[in-house]
Amino acid sequence: MNVTVAYGDALRLETPLLALTTWEDESLPAQVAALVEDGDWNGKFKQLLLLYPRGGLPARRVLLVGLGKRGAITANRLREAAAVAARRARELKVERYCADLPTAEGLALADAAQALTEGALLGLYRFQHYKTNLGSDDQHAIAELSLVSSINDDAIQRGVAIGEVVARGVALARDLANGPGNDITPTVLGAEAQVLGERTGIQVTVLGPEELKQQGFGGILGVAQGSHQPPRFIIMEHGAGTTGVPTVCLVGKGITFDTGGISIKPAESMDNMKMDMGGAAAVLGAMQIIGELNLPLHVVGLISAAENMPSGTAYRPGDIIKTLSGKTIEVLNTDAEGRIVLADALFYAQRYNPDGIIDLATLTGAIAVALGPHAIGVMSNNDGLCERVLRAGETSGEQAWRMPLWEPYQEMVKSDIADVKNAAGRYGGAITAAAFLSNFVGDYPWVHMDIAGTAWVDKPTAYAPKGATGIGVRLLVQALRDWVGER
Ligand code: BES
Ligand code: MN
Ligand code: ZN
Repeated sequence: MNVTVAYGDALRLETPLLALTTWEDESLPAQVAALVEDGDWNGKFKQLLLLYPRGGLPARRVLLVGLGKRGAITANRLREAAAVAARRARELKVERYCADLPTAEGLALADAAQALTEGALLGLYRFQHYKTNLGSDDQHAIAELSLVSSINDDAIQRGVAIGEVVARGVALARDLANGPGNDITPTVLGAEAQVLGERTGIQVTVLGPEELKQQGFGGILGVAQGSHQPPRFIIMEHGAGTTGVPTVCLVGKGITFDTGGISIKPAESMDNMKMDMGGAAAVLGAMQIIGELNLPLHVVGLISAAENMPSGTAYRPGDIIKTLSGKTIEVLNTDAEGRIVLADALFYAQRYNPDGIIDLATLTGAIAVALGPHAIGVMSNNDGLCERVLRAGETSGEQAWRMPLWEPYQEMVKSDIADVKNAAGRYGGAITAAAFLSNFVGDYPWVHMDIAGTAWVDKPTAYAPKGATGIGVRLLVQALRDWVGER
């Protein structure tokens, strides 16, 4: 769907469908009020009401879209309302529709335009590549959404442009994570990164098993050794050589399928483990956006991609692995594989002398237990960087919550016979995973985002259908834009 901007009075538009945003307990424009029976509409958040003006207005249909109380509006609430409205528009099978851009104190025009655009595009996302016999209901795509505002300001077009780029990045992340493990292999992730590089000008290097062996990526190789799928280490560099800008490393866990290995998982819901590369998908989605917006930063995307399988060649509980850093890991549970492949990537990140390292990983079931599906778990060694991430979470609607990473947790991951152990029991499982990772970032500012509870949903949300959410993409882009004051 194309998103365009038109200036003028929304109520004067000739259009198959006008989505008209309204505030709770505020009166409707007289021509619209004339179409509604008193008491049938109060503008509650995400409420919809379809009206047929029958000549009362130039629009063929009017869809009232409740935004809730004016004072409570945020970019994210607007995003949600826009998503709900867009799906209704698609059900109506219109070719195009118009939506009026609401204005409210505390909501900048550009942010509102971006949120409305993102909400509509993300709300319309569906994963249908594998359906061979789609009916016309499932195939209908809206060609154009036109944002209408009475305020003639370039900020609106700017917001729309950013929203379109961001939504495409999120869709890329969702497509990759929703893709099945037999198709989205480490090799394919590497190839996707190469294609992304050609599209955006980002420099991409992909290391395969031979290079990983030569250079000593023992963590990635250890996890991958039970699979027929060769591992990949993916390096994506945006803004290489630019001086006077911050350098940020984005690190993603790319386990393309996690069986648990020899410490095998139960069968129930194991299919979800095709999305155990949600962190990698978020890094790819974010890198695409960073490249397309050409953000004035030096950003390095790093992905450890491997498949975790049980087999005669698989790594075993009790094995000791030497990582890229030289530090050794005692493997007590082969299902705690994410932290092992991340150990190499986090250590690798240090060579860029970064101002920040941010990793994203579907790392622990424990974070889902602690926070449920509504917050990313965050652990960090640096208050300043952590604050950036938490704030970007608020602005983007991808909320994050910090958990402690105190010294006693570090004790919990020390091994009797190696430097660290990869499993430390059930209690504090998300934090001990982070404590483990902290051994590989040196003194660099680092934030770990555990997205195991948020990378997919079992029930649709306002702007994500069941399946992969693409979480992290919008938070990362927001954090980087804020960092350099990019509006
Ligand atoms: N990929 C899983 C974490 C996960 C579980 C993500 C459920 C999403 C939903 C990870 O590799 C894993 O298996 N972690 C173990 C660690 C444990 C063995 C220390 C876990 O959380 O149980
Ligand atoms: Mn696992
Ligand atoms: Zn995993």
